[in-house]
Amino acid sequence: MIKLAVFGDPIGHSLSPIIHTEFAQQAGIKVDYTRIQVSAEEFAERFAEFVSDGGIGANITLPLKELALEVADELTATAIQAGAVNTLLKNNSRWLGTNTDGLGLVTDIERHQVSLEGAKVLLLGAGGAARGVVPALLSAKVASIHVANRTPERAEALIQHALTFAVESQSGSLLLTAGGLNALPRTPFTVVINATSSSLHGEELFLPERILKRQPFSYDMVYGEKPTAFLQWAQRNNCPVADGLGMLVGQAAESFRLWTGVAPDVRPTLAALRNRLGLWSS
Ligand code: ATR
Repeated sequence: MIKLAVFGDPIGHSLSPIIHTEFAQQAGIKVDYTRIQVSAEEFAERFAEFVSDGGIGANITLPLKELALEVADELTATAIQAGAVNTLLKNNSRWLGTNTDGLGLVTDIERHQVSLEGAKVLLLGAGGAARGVVPALLSAKVASIHVANRTPERAEALIQHALTFAVESQSGSLLLTAGGLNALPRTPFTVVINATSSSLHGEELFLPERILKRQPFSYDMVYGEKPTAFLQWAQRNNCPVADGLGMLVGQAAESFRLWTGVAPDVRPTLAALRNRLGLWSS
């Protein structure tokens, strides 16, 4: 039995146990995956308990992803670049911290037959969700990323951080720019990703329609029973759209692969989840 858990606060609504149980059934592996609700103050202590109980892998979610950088003995470049850990994995007696969120996004976008190589990406938002996916977007060889945020200074800080490692991973032609939501560049985008938490609060972004003129693939990291306000706006402008459930299942698949060595097929799990939760499908 492989002992796994997801740590966060709140954690009651986490779909991770359902997803990993599905993956385990697919792989014919016995997995015990639990939710552990713990505050930032008690995280290190509760994690140590989990380890002494035989835990060999964990997912870390809000608000603990940054703290998990310190719980790990070693970090992958992805975790350092993302500035956050969402996956911990036991390697001999040491704990490796990594981040599979970005890969989850990239594999989900590519599953929709959208090529990221050479893509001109508009990334909306500059919080942890946006920062976490930039390394993977760069690795997927996008041509450019413009980060637009309500508070432009945060977008600028995000690209300054990204530039410290982007130079090593790119051939030099990459364009990384930043600005406010109300000062979007006039150049066309091929992929627009909403990494703001606006959809979680049911708020609209009020973006200019010209960004959808060439029908970019429009992605919202949030998912729900119906398309988010951002996705409805994109649909009204005839853009192909997808919500973030595929990213959630995609990041889980990569964590599962790291823990067990088996890469699950995300498609049946995604279909089962949408069916079970009564979620729309793009
Ligand atoms: P997360 O970890 O989910 O990214 P966060 O760090 O709190 O959470 O960041 C939330 C992001 O959503 C920020 O980019 C925030 O913009 P600000 O930096 O200006 O606060 C953005 N956001 C949230 N609600 C928004 C709204 N109604 N309109 C525009 N941006 C919004």
